[in-house]
Amino acid sequence: MVEAKLKYSRRRKIAEIDNRIYGSFVEHLGRGVYGGIYQPSHKEADSKGFRKDVKDLIRELNVPLIRYPGGNFVSGYNWEDAVGPRDERPKRLDLAWRTIETNEVGIHEFFDWSQEIGSEINMAVNLGTRGIEEAKNLLEYCNHPSGTYWSDLRIKNGHKEPFNIKTWCLGNEMDGPWQIGHKTAEEYGRLALETAKAMKLVDDSIELVLCGSSSGQMPTFGEWELTVLDHACEHIDYLSLHQYYGNPDDDLEHYLARSLAMDGFIKGVIAMCDAIKAKKHSKKTIYLSFDEWNVWYHSIEQDKQIKPWQVAPPILEDHYNFEDALLIGCLLITLLKNSDRVKIACLAQLVNVIAPIVTDENNDNKLAWKQTTFYPFMHVSNYGRGVALIPEIESPGYSTKDYDYVPFIESIAVYNEDKEVVTIFAVNRSRENLDFEIELDGFECKEMYQAFEMTGYDVKETNDSSEQRVTPINKVDFQFSEDKIYTSLKGLSWNVICIKVK
Ligand code: AHR
Repeated sequence: MVEAKLKYSRRRKIAEIDNRIYGSFVEHLGRGVYGGIYQPSHKEADSKGFRKDVKDLIRELNVPLIRYPGGNFVSGYNWEDAVGPRDERPKRLDLAWRTIETNEVGIHEFFDWSQEIGSEINMAVNLGTRGIEEAKNLLEYCNHPSGTYWSDLRIKNGHKEPFNIKTWCLGNEMDGPWQIGHKTAEEYGRLALETAKAMKLVDDSIELVLCGSSSGQMPTFGEWELTVLDHACEHIDYLSLHQYYGNPDDDLEHYLARSLAMDGFIKGVIAMCDAIKAKKHSKKTIYLSFDEWNVWYHSIEQDKQIKPWQVAPPILEDHYNFEDALLIGCLLITLLKNSDRVKIACLAQLVNVIAPIVTDENNDNKLAWKQTTFYPFMHVSNYGRGVALIPEIESPGYSTKDYDYVPFIESIAVYNEDKEVVTIFAVNRSRENLDFEIELDGFECKEMYQAFEMTGYDVKETNDSSEQRVTPINKVDFQFSEDKIYTSLKGLSWNVICIKVK
């Protein structure tokens, strides 16, 4: 049988993982908010109209940070429309998605909800149709204690304590021609710089995310990063990356290698951040916020049929299969491999809209359910807290049209010192079983703590509200020596191996 070996050493660390790498994203888009997290008519609705079953599933995912309220939506948003008495809030055309925004949910409702699920908000400001004035007003409204126009308005609207939102995005995908208020790199770089300065005058404890390119394939990619960083790097903390992946040609080997493209994208952006740092003789390291990543392609055709100007139509509702779950595992591992620079990442999105959690449309009785992609995210978010260790992998592999060598095994280990547990996450991209040897150098392996695998499904198999066909099961086939573990990684599998160590 083919063999793969993996070695992790206690001394060879990538970084202490910033838990915000397990962030997600809720946009006022489709059924993300209305009919997703919020559905007053549903039997599971709480007294404020938010669904308890959805909250429970989000808690299972253990999401520490949620980007809000967009996305493309934010570039036409008036946040003031969605505060104050609900019956006085205007309905507006949302030009980003050509829908109707009712403004029933705004920052107050979303903040209270986010507290209940244990997440902090990563708030985006509108730098499409608006600018410095509105951004600083919103920050004053959210974070200033009291005694000013905007902070007192927050108190009048029911929230005495400030929201104290720490992380803020300076607009969204401002390089994209589809963006409302699309800008050149020069225009955005200047606006972002001046907005950042004003916002940090209001509250210098916040952290700011500058828009990078909306994907690595944009014709302006590279030039955009260098220009906007040149303008704003001394006043911001993170540069954003966005990328979605798909398998439109039904080429599994190529698809499962898309995480190598993610790795190359991250490394390229790090190089640009460091080039600007060197050019400016700066001491400041810019970190990365990969604040939109996911699989997105299943719903593209069906969305062309959606009629405009509806409230919460079912758009961007990808129905994920088993191969998508395997890729999500590879992408999560890639983020962790880069956790020395990627400090924030947001799985885009959380409910219904290209999401791990789904609620059935127009149904006030059925419970929310888990897509295939729910599971690898849940595993890594729950078991992947601690220090990421450098993987030393000996693995056979394959070639694709893009890469001469794609290792069959994609893996990362996380050492949680408090719990004395090393968790190994591994995807086997091969269709064959692989004999697998794990060496934990500098650790004494005490016992197997927990282990899961997802395998044996047709790659196109999906879940739905009536049946969870694709789920993890306990993994049992291990042999132990003092610092080595032997197992078999099944063909096309997602694996989580937690080992008690000393
Ligand atoms: O996540 C869906 C959309 O993808 C977001 O609104 C936008 O930022 C990106 O293009």
